[in-house]
Parts: sequence; C-alpha cells; structure tokens
Amino acid sequence: MFLKATDISRSYALGGRQVHALEKVSLEVAESDFLIVTGPSGSGKSTLLNILSGFDHPTTGDVEYKGNSLFIPGKLDVARVRNSSFGFIYQTPHLIADKTVLENVALAFHYGEWVERKEVERRCSQLLDYVGLGNLIDRHPATLSGGEMQRVVFARALAREPDIIFADEPTGSLDENNSKNILGMLKQQTRQGRAVVMVTHEADAISYGTSYLSLQKARAGVSEVSG
Ligand SMILES: Nc1ncnc2c1ncn2[C@@H]1O[C@H](COP(=O)(O)OP(=O)(O)O)[C@@H](O)[C@H]1O
Ligand SMILES: [Mg+2]
Repeated sequence: MFLKATDISRSYALGGRQVHALEKVSLEVAESDFLIVTGPSGSGKSTLLNILSGFDHPTTGDVEYKGNSLFIPGKLDVARVRNSSFGFIYQTPHLIADKTVLENVALAFHYGEWVERKEVERRCSQLLDYVGLGNLIDRHPATLSGGEMQRVVFARALAREPDIIFADEPTGSLDENNSKNILGMLKQQTRQGRAVVMVTHEADAISYGTSYLSLQKARAGVSEVSG
C-alpha cells in the first residue's frame, strides 16, 4: 500500500470564521491504482491533494506513506519523500523561462539525493523522448505550445521515478488531443506500477480511473465560530 488516509479533515480560520475545506476523508492508494477525484469547485479537491502529498497538514486525521505517517514528527522526512517518491503536475505548466527544456526536466535533481550529471542528462533526454519532445530538448519554454509545455512538466514529474503522481486538473488547459496524450501517458505509468491521484472535471478522463472519489458539496458552507 502506498498511501492510506484516515479521516482527514482540514479547516481554515478565516476572519473569525471556520472554513471546512475537507471533512473526514479516508482512502487508500495502492500500486497501479488510478484514483480520480471529482467534485464541484470549492469542494476541497486541491486541499485533499495537498494533504495526501504532504504539502499541507490535515487539521485532524493522518496520512501514511508506506505505513509511516507523513505528519507525526520524526516518522518520515516529508521533503525527501516529496522529492524522491512523488511527482506533480498542475493545471498550468510551471517552467523556468531562461532554462532549456532539458534543464527544466533536470530541475528535479537540484534537490534531494545526488545523481551524477551524466546520469541526469541520460534520464532526462530519455524521458523527453518518451513524451515525444526528443527533438526539442534545447528549446526554451516560450517557444513551446501549451501541450508541449505540459509534456515537459510530465517528464520532470517522472524524473525521480516516483511511486505516485499527483495531478491537479492536468488537462484543464489543454485541447482534446493533448489531453488524451497526457491521460494516456498517466495510464501507462500505472501499468508500470506507479499510482496516479488525479483531480479532474472532464468526463473524458473518467474512463482512465480504477477508483473514484467524489467530493460532494462546495465547502463554501462556512460556519460561524461562536464565542
Ligand atoms: N488557504 C486557505 N484559506 C482559507 N480557505 C481556503 C484556503 N484554501 C482553500 N480554502 C477554501 O477551502 C475550500 C476548498 O478549496 P479547494 O481545495 O481549493 O477546492 P477545489 O480544488 O475543489 O476547487 C474552498 O471553500 C476554499 O475557499
Ligand atoms: Mg482545485
């Protein structure tokens, strides 16, 4: 089992009120799972992803990665787990403008466990071949289409050979062909034993999943804190 979340809730204090962004969610993610998270805007999808990936803390509840808590101090080095075992794709591709495509993928190696430069270049160019950008490795992001940029991000997400890929509306800014391309590659990763946790609004994406979580209401339901 890669991930096990137990009764995770997250609330924010906002101007004397409590926003319940997420309430009592439990789930498990095993290797080769493709978990799809849906729900209306504001239902807590991004909050959930941020907690599952150790970026944000739950107010109550816990998340275990391979049996160890991400949040009980001293159990895991969360920054290291995020860097070496998790990959990330967001709706908008974040690339560094003055670095080449290859250098942008190699950013995955700027932190965490040291990998020899030759090996970094080998892995990055292999991944860029895999995502179909083998002939663009020396280009700069501004010269790429949106779909190409998202493929660079995808290659970077895979660079550390992660167990889990977290994707928050990864096809939200793409046209149909580019969406299919990214979804197909995510699916392919699950066949190789990785897990994918993906937030999506798109009906076409649903068929790629092996399990589903639907967050029901918009959590704008804000409650007054009395006293
Ligand atoms: N840092 C924050 N402070 C206060 N409220 C927040 C914060 N982040 C998210 N929220 C609130 O939590 C709820 C869920 O947000 P989010 O997880 O971004 O939803 P989704 O990704 O499903 O659109 C929303 O009502 C949002 O306004
Ligand atoms: Mg969101």
